[in-house]
Amino acid sequence: MSEKKGRILTGDRPTGKLHLGHYVGSLENRIKLSEEYETFIIIADVQALTTNFDEPEMLEKDVMQVTEDYLAAGIDPENVTICVQSMIPQIAELTVIYSMLVTVNQLERNPTVKAEAEQHNYEEMTYGFLGYPVSQAADITFCRADLVPVGEDQIPHLEQTRKIVRKFNNLYGEVFPEPEPRIGDFPRLIGLDGKAKMSKSLNNAIFLSDTRENVKNKVSQAVTDPARVRLDDPGHPEDCPVFEYHKAFNEEEVEEIRESCREAKIGCVACKERLAEKINQFLEPMRERRKKYKNNPDLIEEILYSGTKKARKEAEKTMEKVREVMEIDYF
Ligand code: TRP
Ligand code: SF4
Repeated sequence: MSEKKGRILTGDRPTGKLHLGHYVGSLENRIKLSEEYETFIIIADVQALTTNFDEPEMLEKDVMQVTEDYLAAGIDPENVTICVQSMIPQIAELTVIYSMLVTVNQLERNPTVKAEAEQHNYEEMTYGFLGYPVSQAADITFCRADLVPVGEDQIPHLEQTRKIVRKFNNLYGEVFPEPEPRIGDFPRLIGLDGKAKMSKSLNNAIFLSDTRENVKNKVSQAVTDPARVRLDDPGHPEDCPVFEYHKAFNEEEVEEIRESCREAKIGCVACKERLAEKINQFLEPMRERRKKYKNNPDLIEEILYSGTKKARKEAEKTMEKVREVMEIDYF
């Protein structure tokens, strides 16, 4: 095996299908970086329980869905270790140890946790929800990761992880590198409806698993420059969500479209048709790859089984070091 620059750990909560926002925010980076770094991707099913603890029976389907999306997107299971959080008990052990190194105050100030609590209308938070960044620190460090490709909203969790790591290393001995975040080219892809963020729950997303027809329909209904009412009105591409997608998925034509829109030489219908075509071209190889996994849960399970087994081994190595430096390896 060639020399790698270090280790990556990143992951997702399994809460349904992945969309274009996931791809340009983080997946693309993971695929690229997995050539240079030894890469672990964790499917954080325990973290999903923080908001969905009342229906754990839903997790299995979502774990399979996310894995299928990863594989379709081009994550190579020969190269990347895909693992399931709940089946790596050392992560739970690390979480308990880390929980002594974090104050409740710090957790209550985490802006991402606060925003999510608001989104769910939580008046009070469970201990598990408030503390999930501690468990995420355990996810990141079970394999002693150096680099964490994530979306922008995860930065506070990375800061929290780095704090825990510094405190652990200072108190007990150097076990962990301080993991660095790495943000994608489009950390926050706008929604089809013009809302700040593409998101499944906002119902404004194009999924990696959408068909050609789905994509055409969704793009044709996307919000455009509100000031451009008639075909001969000059447009303002900088105020148009569709233009944001041309930037992300149509690099070759984006400058021409910017000019044509400003000069009212292209209509929104044609502009959207060109975008839908580009997005479909982009998704086509994923559709091809997906065929192999679709309706083959055994293959997906095999990948998760062997990835999780490898991750557990690595996690136990880490726990041995942790117990050793903390001198809690009595017998
Ligand atoms: N919090 C992340 C999300 O909501 C998912 C996640 C869990 C994660 N553990 C992780 C991301 C470790 C990066 C590293 O998408
Ligand atoms: Fe947006 Fe394209 Fe219409 Fe311009 S032409 S307003 S970029 S959809």
